[in-house]
Amino acid sequence: MRISRLLIAATAVAAACSQAKPEPPEIIPQPAEITVNDGSFKVAGASFTIGENVPAEALKAIGAFRDNLETVTGTKTGDKAGFSFLLNENLGPEAYALKVTPEGATVEAADFNGFFYAIQSIKQMLPVEIYGNAPAKAAWSLPCVDIMDSPRFAYRGLLMDCCRHFFPVEEVKKVLDLMSIHKMNRLHWHLTEDQGWRIEIKKYPKLTEIGAYRDGTQIFRRKETDGQRYGGFYTQDELRDVVAYAAERGITIIPEVDLPGHMVAALASYPELGCTGGPYEVAQHWGVKPDVLCVGKEETFTFLEDVLTEVMDIFPSEYINIGGDECPKVRWKECPLCQARIKKLGLKDKDGFSKEHYLQNYVTARIQKFLNDHGRKIIGWDEILEGDLAEGATVMSWRGTKGGIKAVEKGFDVVMSPNVYLYIDWYQTKERDKEPYRIGHYLPVDSTYRYEPAAGMPENGEEHILGVQANLWSEFLKTSEDFEYQLLPRMSAASEIQWCAADNKDYDRFRKSLDHMVRIYDKLGFVYCKALWGKIGLPGHEIPARSQEELDTLDFNKVPFMEE
Ligand code: ACM
Ligand code: ZN
Repeated sequence: MRISRLLIAATAVAAACSQAKPEPPEIIPQPAEITVNDGSFKVAGASFTIGENVPAEALKAIGAFRDNLETVTGTKTGDKAGFSFLLNENLGPEAYALKVTPEGATVEAADFNGFFYAIQSIKQMLPVEIYGNAPAKAAWSLPCVDIMDSPRFAYRGLLMDCCRHFFPVEEVKKVLDLMSIHKMNRLHWHLTEDQGWRIEIKKYPKLTEIGAYRDGTQIFRRKETDGQRYGGFYTQDELRDVVAYAAERGITIIPEVDLPGHMVAALASYPELGCTGGPYEVAQHWGVKPDVLCVGKEETFTFLEDVLTEVMDIFPSEYINIGGDECPKVRWKECPLCQARIKKLGLKDKDGFSKEHYLQNYVTARIQKFLNDHGRKIIGWDEILEGDLAEGATVMSWRGTKGGIKAVEKGFDVVMSPNVYLYIDWYQTKERDKEPYRIGHYLPVDSTYRYEPAAGMPENGEEHILGVQANLWSEFLKTSEDFEYQLLPRMSAASEIQWCAADNKDYDRFRKSLDHMVRIYDKLGFVYCKALWGKIGLPGHEIPARSQEELDTLDFNKVPFMEE
């Protein structure tokens, strides 16, 4: 009995040795260079060695990882071979090197994000129980690998719209956790809108007393509303807490104060800031509103500067997003004060743009100067490029890629978030009759994945691509479940556009790695669209997805909406 057991064991070892090299670990986003070697490193009870001058924030992240490992393995860190974390100033920003041998794992990085991202990769190579907070029986070992990793783009963003629907701080933090797993480093936080103002501004209390609440919300695409009072806002203390939480995960929060359009909630609070003087009410329907800030009045600029002063005090980010999208000019055309400013500035219709477009350029430039004088830079939606845009602004391309390409041709930096690839509020399956009601178009995971940001750019255009961002607008996302369902798994696809060189992307490899990633989503309790795994719908309402053959013949635009 004893002998035959040994024989079986010996045969198994021989079979293992004759096998091809193990598959690379399933890490999303895929590291730049990864070599898999034989063997593994047993992590339970491993020691932790930290070299000189490792940044203090990294010490905290390493300590948290060590505590996490002790909890899940049920073993205290010991003095056997283990983890080493060493500063290597020759590595680039956010880069890391990871070498795992049977004797231990050595991490090298030059900055906090590099160390933090090495830990993220290590966690993805460990059993998913590492994402839990209880002892778990699992194969607690890391494969022997050599990884050299660094991001393609410095700005790897996600937009969270907390205006159309309001999400509590806990949900924002969950989204930040997800971002950190995906090595995303910019949360573009959409905090002001026609339908709700969400930042406490001490100097203008009515912005949240009045502007944070609406008296109803549009039902689907109908004229009628539900008649329910709806709203909420974040206090400055809450915002600061979220900023700190993000920073501990290598994420900078870029607030958006969308101006001079998308300001109806502010006008409802302070009607004197509009061209007509109101009265206005916080919008209950989606879409673009004709009422915008009156920029003929000096008080409007005082208001904006006061608001931005408090915003800068809360958010240390170098960039502030000033919006600039979808600003109709109808009120300005009729407003004596706006027209007087146009006259005083000598603005004329020119090059296919109206003098009111140039008035918006004036607003953008004036706010840009104010922010620059305070050491900050602006980002704005691609409309800010219409007419004249002052040097130093960064353009966020959302109406497809053309705004971004044009901006690069003119020498501006850009963040690419083209709706056709990265508006993840769109339907992710063709099964509109089965999916919860969403905003419209069809954007499956593989279409997002296949986006190439430098496509169509002039030569050397990539130098001007600061980064890439996925946008999650929340018109039809009422709950955290809705929000996560739209986000996942397309966020994972977006992270590879942001992190991986074009020749390191491979949809088949990514799709296979997603099977591992969704186990992480499950472990952390995230809701996600399971269409790739044969199911559709929110938890509790899941139904089988159509077969691939049926889907191939389905015309998305002919499928009726589920909730009409
Ligand atoms: C936008 O989607 N209006 C930026
Ligand atoms: Zn006006």
